[in-house]
Amino acid sequence: MSRAVNASEFVIRNAHVLDPSSDLDRITDVRLTEGRIAEVGDGLRGGRELDADGLHLFPGFVDVHAHWRTPGREDEETIESGSAAAAAGGFTSVVMMPNTDPVVDKPVIVSGLMRRIEQESRVRAYISAALHAGLEGKRLTEMRLLKEAGAFCVSDDGLGTASAGVLRNGMLYARTAGLPVILHCEDHTLATGVVHDGVAAALAGIPGSPASAEDAATATALILAAETGAKVHITHVSTALSAALVAFFKSRADVTGDTTPHHLTLTDDLVSTLEGMYRVNPPLRPDDDRRGVGEALRDGVLDFVATDHAPHASEEKELPIEEAAPGFLGHETAFAALYSEIVLGGVLPLSRLVEAMSCAPGRWMSEGAGTIGVGASADLTLVDLSEEWTVGRESLLSQSANSPYTGRKLTSRVVGTIVGGELIHDRTGARFGVRA
Ligand code: DOR
Repeated sequence: MSRAVNASEFVIRNAHVLDPSSDLDRITDVRLTEGRIAEVGDGLRGGRELDADGLHLFPGFVDVHAHWRTPGREDEETIESGSAAAAAGGFTSVVMMPNTDPVVDKPVIVSGLMRRIEQESRVRAYISAALHAGLEGKRLTEMRLLKEAGAFCVSDDGLGTASAGVLRNGMLYARTAGLPVILHCEDHTLATGVVHDGVAAALAGIPGSPASAEDAATATALILAAETGAKVHITHVSTALSAALVAFFKSRADVTGDTTPHHLTLTDDLVSTLEGMYRVNPPLRPDDDRRGVGEALRDGVLDFVATDHAPHASEEKELPIEEAAPGFLGHETAFAALYSEIVLGGVLPLSRLVEAMSCAPGRWMSEGAGTIGVGASADLTLVDLSEEWTVGRESLLSQSANSPYTGRKLTSRVVGTIVGGELIHDRTGARFGVRA
């Protein structure tokens, strides 16, 4: 007689389970029941089994920084395509940035997005509302109402906040509303160019913005964070000095920081191509900065990685660098680029990368997330560390094509992404079986 198969339960067998938050780093089995981790241990069996022999199993990746271009630019990305790209990259939770058209600065826009997330998103999607109306840096948004409508945090991403006074009041208001603040640190009186102001820009004859455009804004934000007590996250840190500033304020403020896969793996040499592809904010930096942010990530000064997934239409990206829109796709190449370049390159142990892509951002979002601990949500990422693939339009699910890794061969690939116990991205092929 065949056993009834419980559809809400399955066992992942023989995976190399790596979860620094639970001290797991060995080949074992994991039972998922009703969307949660029910058991971790050897010799588990179940009605439905996934044979993960040769694969690594991590807590699901968490990306606190993505642009899914909804509302307004659904030609570039939608919640459906952005979440498919996130799932393909192993992300189980994503925070959507507010620099859309219209800007996410009113409760009605937040509640509209909540409905669309419910209908379209394959992964857990969270909304960052705008810190100020229209992201114009003048009038603060109604943060309490935005939170009631479903916003998870507030941000000035895409532009930054020109006035320190507005930023300070924004932090005070966000704190009383109980919302974390994600900050894009860029001083526009200094950021007058299109790439990093350095040797590569000078040789190519492209106007540059100095590193101080980021560093001065980061210093201001950190000083205000210490003074106001707000929960502040500095996103896409790209210079060694900004990372050092975050380190200084770690014990003085409720502050965290992230850096991106591209700032960890690419440098401003690429601007010599003059291609619009390589324009991004903050700009690609010289190798000293790339190494500096890598060391800060290794040492935990920068807490985690976020992708700044920024899809752009080809007519806005395939232009000379001075005219191109800034930003790169990020979800689908994040882990593979970082594994290929900085884990295999000896900068970061694999366990720290998993901590930086899963555990730490998971904890930042909610206590008890980003872990394979028993009782936690079954949000998991299965990866084949040995698979090699070449990044190309046809290998990406995003609606846009602006990956700076196009044409590069990367090592490691996401094979499966599980959200709440459901396999929502599936390249497992014949590994799934039902036992009689
Ligand atoms: O390069 C960037 N692109 N940096 C940002 O901060 C915003 C993003 C976008 O929205 O395209």
